[in-house]
Amino acid sequence: MKISGTGSVLPRKVVTNEMLSQFLDTSDQWITTRTGVKSRRVISDEKLEDMAIEASLKALADAGMNADELDFIICSNVVNEYVTPQLSCIIQGGIGATCPCIDINCACAGFIHALEIAESFYKAGRVGNVLVVCAEEPTRMTDWNDRRTCVLFGDGAGAAVLTPGDNIRSIKLSASSATDKLWQYRLLHHTPYITKEEVDVPLQMKGQDVFKFAVKAASRDIARTLKETGVTADEVDHFMLHQANIRIINAIQEYLEQPSDKFPVNIEDHGNSSSSCCPILLDECNRSGRLKRGDLIAMSAFGAGFVSGAVLFEW
Ligand code: ACO
Repeated sequence: MKISGTGSVLPRKVVTNEMLSQFLDTSDQWITTRTGVKSRRVISDEKLEDMAIEASLKALADAGMNADELDFIICSNVVNEYVTPQLSCIIQGGIGATCPCIDINCACAGFIHALEIAESFYKAGRVGNVLVVCAEEPTRMTDWNDRRTCVLFGDGAGAAVLTPGDNIRSIKLSASSATDKLWQYRLLHHTPYITKEEVDVPLQMKGQDVFKFAVKAASRDIARTLKETGVTADEVDHFMLHQANIRIINAIQEYLEQPSDKFPVNIEDHGNSSSSCCPILLDECNRSGRLKRGDLIAMSAFGAGFVSGAVLFEW
């Protein structure tokens, strides 16, 4: 397939590090030097599904396509207000599409997993045009009294329209179960028969373990896509990495021995918006004119599970 259109939407509310330090034992200096985040966009009066619909409509407009031309919609989401129906079905109705749709939850690596599904369906001859939309509100997962987690995240929605083509050169996915490193429990409704102890626990993270996994997995996944295609890192024009921590991005950049101007970033004023990071960054690069037709892009993301993935594609 090829990516023919992109779109993104951020919540209006800007929350700066200074605002956080008014109620948390933290500082702009700590957050900036340890993470690279200066401010993030946080959902207040918006609904996530409305942001996802708007991002999708922008991507369709960018691709010059109507929603009724879509054959499939894949929505990547970890959490939203609905348990059911699936977010993709709400988006389908909101944009006026009639095609089938699915939700996936692959944490922050959702965009790359969705591209793999779209590409596989396309190669099997089952779809032509696919909408991938990532919509995430990780700020609703963290405890806002926990300075170790809540400072990292922001919300947002990013979308891409895929059409027939052969621009996707390679995709590599990985999973390595580590459920004690990054997890959250939610409380389900009680029944008269539940005898086990159940608790409601906000997002828990062993930050340094996640950091090490992220650098290793992203470096390995990108290297695998390069090896499979015979492309060298020097030949890649842009490395678009999951925006979790600027120090993780810098470590991957060092491993790849590539100049920093090949690594577009928006973490400073977006924070980590889970699977939305990659399509939002792609959309911002697209709309700013940073991408030229034929450019080679290596994209990589990692997240809870652990799961990770990288894709090498031509713009
Ligand atoms: N402000 C001030 N101090 C803080 C803060 C904060 N916001 N957060 C932690 N600290 C303190 C800790 O309490 C600790 O203090 P102590 O030594 O007195 O115990 C000290 O800072 C150092 O803490 P570390 O956890 O060792 O700090 P580290 O340098 O590892 O940075 C961080 C923490 C930023 C979380 C880093 O480990 C990281 O980015 N890890 C990866 C996280 C990530 O990518 N998560 C997203 C995964 S994607 C997904 O699926 C959601």
